[in-house]
Amino acid sequence: MAEPLNIALAGLGTVGAGVIRLVEANAELIARRAGRPIRIAAVSARDRTKTRGVDISGYAWVDDMVILGEREDVDVVVELVGGSDGPALALARTTFEAGKSLVTANKAMIAHHGLELATAAEAAGVALKFEAAVAGGIPVIKGLSEGAAANAIERVYGILNGTCNYILSTMEDTGRDFDDVLADAQRLGYAEADPTFDIEGIDAAHKLSILAAIAFGSRLRFDAVDTMGISRLKAADIEQARALGYVIRLIGMAEVDRTQGGDRLFQRVRPHLVPLDHPLAHVDGATNAVVAEGNFMGRLLFQGAGAGDGPTASAVVADLIDIARGEKGATFSMPAAELEMMEPAPTGHRLGRSYVRFTVPDRPGVLADITAAMRDANVSIESLIQKGDPDQDGEVILAMVTHEGPESAVSQALRILEGSESLTAQPLVMQILGD
Ligand code: NAP
Ligand code: HSE
Repeated sequence: MAEPLNIALAGLGTVGAGVIRLVEANAELIARRAGRPIRIAAVSARDRTKTRGVDISGYAWVDDMVILGEREDVDVVVELVGGSDGPALALARTTFEAGKSLVTANKAMIAHHGLELATAAEAAGVALKFEAAVAGGIPVIKGLSEGAAANAIERVYGILNGTCNYILSTMEDTGRDFDDVLADAQRLGYAEADPTFDIEGIDAAHKLSILAAIAFGSRLRFDAVDTMGISRLKAADIEQARALGYVIRLIGMAEVDRTQGGDRLFQRVRPHLVPLDHPLAHVDGATNAVVAEGNFMGRLLFQGAGAGDGPTASAVVADLIDIARGEKGATFSMPAAELEMMEPAPTGHRLGRSYVRFTVPDRPGVLADITAAMRDANVSIESLIQKGDPDQDGEVILAMVTHEGPESAVSQALRILEGSESLTAQPLVMQILGD
């Protein structure tokens, strides 16, 4: 058999340990598929003495991970540390300077520095691969950049954060509190080092910006993703949504907007109400799902485990097998220089139905104030629910669903209500996912 592909692992946490387990358990199968063995030459992390559930005594330990790519016994560096900058970025840069390929699961780094890194990899004639960075074990990067490569992609959207999906679906099933369920997701290894990245939608926005670059051949615009997470959701929203025939899911959506002249990039991550008959309504737990619509292929649905050691390691090692076979591929499905700079699309003209949750004092005239603002902003109301007794502060939740109309009209109604004594908290708006 041919010479092994020698790899260095930087980061031995959830994913790093998963990669060691997978490379060891499936060594023979991987070698047959890759045409040569994959051999771990060196490892690095912060604390050499930590117990990791895997035996690392047979691998060379390197204290300074940034020099892993410079080692003669290393062909590919695998970065599983995380963080958009810091040691991960330094490692990526030195790896390309040393003329070695890099595999990473780090969506934050790719979302912020993907163009620079792709350019550096191409200049060095090496590979930059990041299948594990988006949707864990689902081969969505490969699916879009290879399987769907002949299509003009019109829209890409889906459930991109396992932690949020686990929290929302578990709250839905058990009625447990948000913080309690988040702690479970952390224990299971789904959450980022800083879980606010998960619950505030930032992790999903990192992934969406990467998908959009591949789908539309656009430069990465993480800065332009309109992002809102799930931390403001209450159990009452989940209950009201269910009563109206929906579940709540954090959805990332990107498309090219041609309505305002020129191609503009629409990218949004927000909790949505998903109709119970939509395939995404049945995506539960840490599962992710991505829908891509292309002009010849129609609609594709990718679904699978979006987080956790095994699925993520599977995606990392799939990239290594590609490199072992000599398949470099174009980083974003085309050379970095071909990626087009697209300005962000305005959103006010977008048509849709919205869910608006008001927290109001339970007294006469409140409903009249709210519906008057809707009338004045030309928002048509489809349904309205106020259920239950006021809480100890005398507040009740009022949930409204609008008919289809421009998003700007709902924003206008809420501006009219700003400072109104009929509201005791800022309203929460969620879009209703269409077809
Ligand atoms: P993790 O469990 O926190 O592990 C991070 C590893 O990096 C640890 O081994 C840690 O060393 C090491 N490390 C952190 N800071 C370091 C520093 N300054 N210098 C040297 N080593 C450092 O993280 P993870 O969940 O495996 O995630 C790794 C990457 O995969 C991240 O980019 C994440 O976004 C991505 N990812 C994770 C998942 C998932 O399900 N967990 C899924 C997809 C992608 P010590 O162990 O010695 O402290
Ligand atoms: N924290 C991420 C999630 C890990 O929950 O989806 C996978 O990228």
